[in-house]
Amino acid sequence: MFKEKDFVLLIDTKGRKYVFKLQQGGVFSYHKGQVAHESIINKEEGIIIHSSLNEKLIALKPTLAEFVLYKLKRGGQIIYPKDIGQILVLLDIFPGARVLECGCGSGALTLFLLRMVGENGKVVAVDIREDMIEVAKQNIENFYNKPIEEIKNLQIIQLDFKQGINDKNFDRVIVDISDPWEVLENVYSVLSASGIVSFWLPTVLQVFSLVDKLEKEYKDKFYLQGIYETFQRHWEKKELSLRPAHRMVAHTGFLIVCEKLSIVG
Ligand SMILES: C[S@@+](CC[C@H](N)C(=O)[O-])C[C@H]1O[C@@H](n2cnc3c(N)ncnc32)[C@H](O)[C@@H]1O
Repeated sequence: MFKEKDFVLLIDTKGRKYVFKLQQGGVFSYHKGQVAHESIINKEEGIIIHSSLNEKLIALKPTLAEFVLYKLKRGGQIIYPKDIGQILVLLDIFPGARVLECGCGSGALTLFLLRMVGENGKVVAVDIREDMIEVAKQNIENFYNKPIEEIKNLQIIQLDFKQGINDKNFDRVIVDISDPWEVLENVYSVLSASGIVSFWLPTVLQVFSLVDKLEKEYKDKFYLQGIYETFQRHWEKKELSLRPAHRMVAHTGFLIVCEKLSIVG
């Protein structure tokens, strides 16, 4: 049942998606009319409703990926849910994990990490920019419908990770900054034994610089588990035709995954 302050996902007849929060007295407007929030509040999730211009809409609960794609306020480039899926699996994020996220940006990945580590885990999200920390906080508060201080498994801090952090023993570290080769020593010192780190980079030159430094200077400190790129292609069925969609997000970035080695002696 939809309640006030729940998010709703409306899908129109062309497949366009809209996500918003339900408020008493609220009205959703789009190019095919208006919908009073009251016509959704206290109704079963999955109902079909009609706009003031009698246009059909499906009303569903948005998934976290839909919240991120259609509702998240963006202060910069986010990591797309298709790539976040890979990060969660390849980084082996588990309930109870202590995770450091370096460069939390708008908080897209942070939201998935919080869900994955659960109440007994901890996400420490850092960003050098005060304005980005503010955007991330707003997005996280909006999603959880509560002040950031009440989200007990999150600590969000403005800092330059190149200067280090007063915390360690992280099970996992995720680095999403443009020059991660500058923070390898810091990553090594905050990771617990056999901890896993992933780096997210948009261009091959950055990947080369990072992996080259890992090979030349960090062979004894990190095992390079893999370099990955993920494609997601949507398909469409229309009557007798079943084919890939004309458009796709062709490139987002590369994921580099390393495991910490212990130096003996
Ligand atoms: C591409 S954004 C991260 C997006 C984020 N992963 C998301 O999914 O929304 C990169 C962020 O790294 C931050 N950053 C860059 N250098 C940094 C540093 N040395 N320490 C901490 N944060 C840094 C930037 O301010 C920026 O917000």
